[in-house]
Amino acid sequence: MSADPAGLARIDWARRAMPVLGLLREEYAATQPFAGRTVAACLHVTPETAVLAEVITAGGGQVRLAASNPLSTQDDIAAALASRPGVRVHARSGVDRETYYAHLHQVLEETPDLVIDDGGDLLNTLHAERADLLPGVAGGCESTATGVVRLRRMAAEGALAFPVVAADTSLTRRMFDNGYGTSQSVIDGLLRATNMLLAGKTVVVAGYGPCGAAIAERASGLGAHVIVTEIDPVRALAALMRGHRVMPMADAAPQGDVFVTATGSRDVITAQHLALMPDGAVLANAGHFDVEIDVRALAAGAATVRRGIRPHADEYVLADGRRLVLLAEGRVVNLIAAEGNPAAVMDLSFAVQAMALAWLLRQDGELGPGVHPMPPGIDAEVARLTLATLGARIDRLTPAQREYLDSWRQGS
Ligand SMILES: NC(=O)c1ccc[n+]([C@@H]2O[C@H](COP(=O)([O-])OP(=O)(O)OC[C@H]3O[C@@H](n4cnc5c(N)ncnc54)[C@H](O)[C@@H]3O)[C@@H](O)[C@H]2O)c1
Repeated sequence: MSADPAGLARIDWARRAMPVLGLLREEYAATQPFAGRTVAACLHVTPETAVLAEVITAGGGQVRLAASNPLSTQDDIAAALASRPGVRVHARSGVDRETYYAHLHQVLEETPDLVIDDGGDLLNTLHAERADLLPGVAGGCESTATGVVRLRRMAAEGALAFPVVAADTSLTRRMFDNGYGTSQSVIDGLLRATNMLLAGKTVVVAGYGPCGAAIAERASGLGAHVIVTEIDPVRALAALMRGHRVMPMADAAPQGDVFVTATGSRDVITAQHLALMPDGAVLANAGHFDVEIDVRALAAGAATVRRGIRPHADEYVLADGRRLVLLAEGRVVNLIAAEGNPAAVMDLSFAVQAMALAWLLRQDGELGPGVHPMPPGIDAEVARLTLATLGARIDRLTPAQREYLDSWRQGS
């Protein structure tokens, strides 16, 4: 593949908004934490991922990259990245399931020392189909909630062969990536695919985790009435206290103009719900896998499917004449109908993950197999660097304050 000038320009643009990775690139170029190591990566192929790859290669590593979703690869970025020394890309947009997994296998062809995954497909394939490689792997890092859930199940069954850091446990990731990046890019995907006015509309958000809560907040900020569906009473209560209406999906279905799923679970919108939705309802998924909206049931109930009525929007005309509009085929709408998370938040998320990989290597095999939380100190260090790049300063504890906080003797 030859370098794509458009892709290179977009990587340059992203790099400008990623100062913390810039600092890490300089540090790692000097300290070479990944010298002689191969990092197998399964990530959305975006400009921000390209900037992460630069940090790993500057630190002496080799990167072998496949996409973490069959539709999310930005082909200009894949071409630009593949021209970089130390990087090989096995990804193309719009591949079928078989090709998607073939790409994961290609990434594993060069024995990895480290794995960085987003959703668990690469770690799963490695354990299930390339167990011969497991002894050589020092550790891994998993980006997203859905992947962490899968890994915890593997660990519980004793099937996880090495330590994996759950990036999802990073405060930085939960607060900024999920809280600001995902929500903004999900709304961006909705708007690019439909150009609809959200003010005055009813937006139903399924799942009130960090992603769903932030999507609800953004939709509300744009003037939408938000209904939240949940299965967890505490999160449902949080949504209610925030001023959103809370109800089961079966009650919300007839009321929504827009439906966004962000649960990490399956069958959140089923044939039963589709049957109740009003004409013109728009359906989008922000969760990691395309199992939240029952797309098969939607197709089965449709008399006609009009593909591509707008980019990334397909209209399903049901037998009773109602039209339902599905965005991005029910896959992650922010990565397919928009460009994924803004570079400024991926700066934080990828800095945390690059530091976690370097930390794993420093443990020198002392860490047992299992899912480990983000090591202490990394979040604070990334936040400190980010504040510095933004020109913001904060207070420091005085010695008296530190002594007060450390003591159990001082009370009222
Ligand atoms: N699109 C993106 O860029 C992006 C970014 C980060 C995370 N994600 C994905 O988004 C999903 C949500 O992430 P999160 O961090 O908020 O996860 P989370 O697990 O913290 O929250 C999910 C919420 O959904 C609720 N839920 C589960 N099943 C439900 C159902 N049937 N109906 C209603 N609510 C239900 C859970 O109770 C929970 O409160 C995951 O799949 C995650 O991997 C996507």
